[in-house]
Amino acid sequence: MNDAINQPLPKAYGAIVEETQRLGFTMPSDIQTCALLRTLAASKPAGRFLELGTGSGLSTAWILDGMDNASTLVSFDHDDALLAIAGKYLGHDQRLSLVRSDGADWVHENEGQAFDFIFADTWHGKYLLLDEVLAMLHPGGLYIVDDMLPQPNWPEGHPEKAFAFIEQLESRDDLWIVKQHWATGMIIGVKRC
Ligand SMILES: C[S@@+](CC[C@H](N)C(=O)[O-])C[C@H]1O[C@@H](n2cnc3c(N)ncnc32)[C@H](O)[C@@H]1O
Repeated sequence: MNDAINQPLPKAYGAIVEETQRLGFTMPSDIQTCALLRTLAASKPAGRFLELGTGSGLSTAWILDGMDNASTLVSFDHDDALLAIAGKYLGHDQRLSLVRSDGADWVHENEGQAFDFIFADTWHGKYLLLDEVLAMLHPGGLYIVDDMLPQPNWPEGHPEKAFAFIEQLESRDDLWIVKQHWATGMIIGVKRC
């Protein structure tokens, strides 16, 4: 076995990759992570999905690909240029709500909402406001983060933050987690019932 995906890519993925590279976006989700997201998304029929950090819509495209028609996805980012790419290729999908918002504002304005699947790919829901975002996860719901192995774009001081975040997840009594030393470093958590 190797890591090759050998399954169809989401329809818009190639075009989003091209535009993302043209823009010079330096923090795109990698394709292995995206493939894992699609597979896990398919485990939540009629699910409510949340993505914190749309970027240009790379991971969004894969999550949508795994979701069934009764599922919905809210995805936010604060960057207009990135959201414009996501909107151009994915905005027609009725299941998707693309939101332009600062992460802290979105989380505070949406406390009380509940989701079956959360991909936390920005500061909020990961390094910031973790309790608030995990409170939005249904029992049995999936919490997923990537970029937990050292990345070339990590700023100074980030390794310490990453270690502290991992310890925080390990010590929670409302989550079972698995750390995967694979792709960019994934952690998958399930909210305990
Ligand atoms: C790792 S990237 C997301 C990558 C994306 N999921 C993909 O598939 O390529 C992190 C994203 O967080 C966004 N971001 C950073 N700070 C933010 C904030 N305060 N509020 C909202 N979004 C923020 C950035 O614009 C960036 O798109």
